[in-house]
Amino acid sequence: MSAVLRLVGVTEQYGEGETAVSALSGVDLTVDKGELVAIMGASGSGKSTLLSIAGGLQQPTSGEVVVEDTYLSTASARQLAALRRRSLGFVFQDFNLIPTLTALENVTLPLELDGFRARVARRAGRDALSSVGLEDKVDSYPDDLSGGQQQRVAIARAVVGGRRLILADEPSGVLDSVTGEAVMKMIRTRVDQGAAGILVTHEARHAAWADRIVFLRDGRIVDESRRGGADALLAGARRARSSSVRRWMPRRRRRPAPAPAGSDRGGGRVSAWRAVRRSVPGRRVCWSSR
Ligand SMILES: Nc1ncnc2c1ncn2[C@@H]1O[C@H](COP(=O)(O)OP(=O)(O)O)[C@@H](O)[C@H]1O
Ligand SMILES: [Mg+2]
Repeated sequence: MSAVLRLVGVTEQYGEGETAVSALSGVDLTVDKGELVAIMGASGSGKSTLLSIAGGLQQPTSGEVVVEDTYLSTASARQLAALRRRSLGFVFQDFNLIPTLTALENVTLPLELDGFRARVARRAGRDALSSVGLEDKVDSYPDDLSGGQQQRVAIARAVVGGRRLILADEPSGVLDSVTGEAVMKMIRTRVDQGAAGILVTHEARHAAWADRIVFLRDGRIVDESRRGGADALLAGARRARSSSVRRWMPRRRRRPAPAPAGSDRGGGRVSAWRAVRRSVPGRRVCWSSR
């Protein structure tokens, strides 16, 4: 497996002196090609900071970030800009579409900035929009699209031109559950086609689309799924009893999952997790610590 993203000992401190906030402390994280990693944690635990540093939008206070073969600490502004245009796809919680551009123009913007001929960019943009089911909305402006459609345009923009690292910050935060699942599926598909992805989410059913879940608390990775599987992860989570862990539990379960015969884990997080896993149709959730 080849690493698309490596964070090594990444620390981020905002401000100085008594008011300094330590947003990330010694974070090590590797994401391979074909791997989708979900990041969960309470508000303020450092998820957005991690994503922003991974995408070179901000420099860490210390530590190294490597995207493919580029060491971000020593890359020039020009190299960083090229990397963001060509290799990285961001999906922000609030979509960040440009209101005066059509859906197609929003999607092709990174390609056009990168010097692609307009015709080539438009073809790639149309393909990306049809991959998210919006082929009939290419000429619509963001204001004429629903929230779910806008988010799909944002996903199309994040994957257009074969971007190799997708960074999504609560991409389904404001969407209804059906659209949220569709958005997860699109990110999963692009990752399966050979990208790497990080997905920040507070919903367990969305994290279930990932190959691995990493929990952040106060800027540190406190838990990570291991080869032992979800049960080992959840046992660790129970010990940690952190608010970050509690937050990702689904608030309501449609149907309480009965405890398996002979199991000492009736109710509680494990059966809730099984319910979550079942809620992802057609997909076997695979746990690994590659
Ligand atoms: N630009 C900033 N200036 C100062 N503090 C910040 C800034 N951005 C984030 N923080 C602080 O850093 C911590 C982590 O924030 P963030 O990465 O946004 O967490 P999350 O996305 O998990 O909610 C929080 O305590 C937040 O208040
Ligand atoms: Mg955030």
